[in-house]
Amino acid sequence: MSKEPGVQKMFDAIAGRYDLMNRVMTMGQDQKWRRFVVNMAGDPGDGLSLDLATGTGDIGALMTDIHPQAIVVGGDFSLNMLKEAKKRFSDKQIYWQACDANLLPFGDDTFESVTFGYLLRNVDDALKVLEEVRRVLKPGGKVVCLDTTPPAKNFFYPFVRFYFRFGIPVLGRLIANDEAAYAYLTGSTMDFYNAEQLARLFSDAGYVNVGYKKFMLGTIGIHWGEK
Ligand SMILES: C[S@@+](CC[C@H](N)C(=O)[O-])C[C@H]1O[C@@H](n2cnc3c(N)ncnc32)[C@H](O)[C@@H]1O
Repeated sequence: MSKEPGVQKMFDAIAGRYDLMNRVMTMGQDQKWRRFVVNMAGDPGDGLSLDLATGTGDIGALMTDIHPQAIVVGGDFSLNMLKEAKKRFSDKQIYWQACDANLLPFGDDTFESVTFGYLLRNVDDALKVLEEVRRVLKPGGKVVCLDTTPPAKNFFYPFVRFYFRFGIPVLGRLIANDEAAYAYLTGSTMDFYNAEQLARLFSDAGYVNVGYKKFMLGTIGIHWGEK
């Protein structure tokens, strides 16, 4: 059964508290990772850059701040998240677009770069989405992906597991008034590819110069590649 209709409904429901929850849950680290994503995507010049699963728009907004000549498109299938994004960044020139990552409404070879934060964990077929993203990238274009990754079984594992299992859902209840949505975050992270496996998936989708870096005790991974 597809999880995507449920994911769409869930993000529509939490859109209003999403940003506050992010800041608290990541202890204020989340913007640092988004800035790393934009830096890894390189300078699109006056070309197009797509921030897919843009949510409330943070990565797209950083892209316009760092590269003001770029034409930035923020795409997402949750209309409520896009509404929040528009409200937050009404002063910025960003083209907001309702779209599904499985079937993008853009031609082949359109974008200099495509970024996405916390998308792949939420789709039914991550390989298919990576191939679809590759289709809309120009040859030589860059993809950069930020997501949670299952923590490695090292010294920190019991603490990290406790935080994921109990801390995050409780924060979800207190801040976003939606414990289930944040229990889903924990479950989908534990079930997701680890950083090494995800890097292989990028190669399987046809990207070259694939690499990654882990953050926050190995619970966050940023992956990149080139068409
Ligand atoms: C956790 S939020 C991340 C938002 C933003 N990228 C950030 O850094 O905070 C995940 C976003 O992915 C979107 N999303 C999930 N699956 C999608 C799909 N198949 N197509 C388009 N957007 C999708 C959700 O609607 C949600 O806004």
